[in-house]
Amino acid sequence: MVNDQVASEPNVDAVVLVGGKGTRLRPLTLSAPKPMLPTAGLPFLQHLLARIGAAGIKHVVLGTSFKAEVFEEYFGDGSSMGLEIEYVTETEPLGTGGGIRNVLPKLRADNVIVFNGDVLGGTDLRAVLDTHRHTEADVTMHLVRVGDPRAFGCVPTDEDGRVTDFLEKTQDPPTDQINAGCYVFRREIIEKIPAGRPVSVEREVFPGLLAEGRRVFGHVDAAYWRDMGTPEDFVRGSADLVRGIAPSPALDGPRGESLVHPGAGIAPGAVLIGGTVVGRGAEIGAGARLDGAVVFDGAVIEAGATVERSIVGFGARIGPRALVRDAVIGDGADVGARCELLRGARVWPGVALPDGGVRFSTDV
Ligand code: GTP
Repeated sequence: MVNDQVASEPNVDAVVLVGGKGTRLRPLTLSAPKPMLPTAGLPFLQHLLARIGAAGIKHVVLGTSFKAEVFEEYFGDGSSMGLEIEYVTETEPLGTGGGIRNVLPKLRADNVIVFNGDVLGGTDLRAVLDTHRHTEADVTMHLVRVGDPRAFGCVPTDEDGRVTDFLEKTQDPPTDQINAGCYVFRREIIEKIPAGRPVSVEREVFPGLLAEGRRVFGHVDAAYWRDMGTPEDFVRGSADLVRGIAPSPALDGPRGESLVHPGAGIAPGAVLIGGTVVGRGAEIGAGARLDGAVVFDGAVIEAGATVERSIVGFGARIGPRALVRDAVIGDGADVGARCELLRGARVWPGVALPDGGVRFSTDV
């Protein structure tokens, strides 16, 4: 469908790395791989696949490992999205570089655009491909500018846009440009990545290419960008999608302060703001206040509870007048009435907290 409206990119394959364990998003990633977590009502990966399709790229290979089967069960051959999706599974995770090398037998095109499967972005992918072509690069890296580059791969470039260094998680970053987790490779470069062992694209492949004097270029832009790897970023990214701050061709219609699945129940007097999303079969009680909340399918928020900037897992229950702020509640957990869970608290799946059982204050 999407591909009929745009010129196609026949000489470009897309690869999406989705094999990570997503440890920073535990306990949600104990049951579902990070790229399949519901985000504005759809598996996160669907937003990225829709962008790939909208750029005219049809052939997509998913590099899977952790919970590999879930992806094919959901996306199948990709035809419902106008894509042709293939899957390559690593029995032992091969890392980001090993994952790219491992899909080589499925690649057909001369240029391969590779994505980390956990980035929410609005970059014009055709512009990244254009940069790759006009610089005749071996590899083109999408770069974004961030306030604090220390947690990322810092990538300085010269006046022509050529990458001069690649400094993974340095305490002393020379520039605010970071690796945005999207690269275009000439296929021959992928052929040179060692096969059959774990390889990090960030720590081994890129430094190696620079040491060999390969043509590595950066494509810098100011489009929306967020790595969804932590609960804080996941909540922010989800809210940005709901409110239309983050673009997604997979979402149509107007966007607003909340997105409620038609199969969810919202009692009178409940307040849903800040990009809150409520999944299928979820129930929100009277007077509950949800601000920037991500409520997965089948979860229950009881009357008078408050949920702010938090994720409530599948089938979990938040008891009456409980307060959940900047927290992650695992699938099927039961948070008793008047409990307070704040500042990075994580409740493991199925755990039951008795009424008033966890408090950050002495009020009763
Ligand atoms: P954390 O454990 O929280 O760091 O998450 P992660 O395992 O997803 O790692 P990271 O965020 O660094 O991974 C970036 C992207 O690469 C994600 O989309 C991962 O799914 C993917 N990825 C990470 N390691 C592997 C791997 O060994 N194989 C494959 N195929 N993909 C990987």
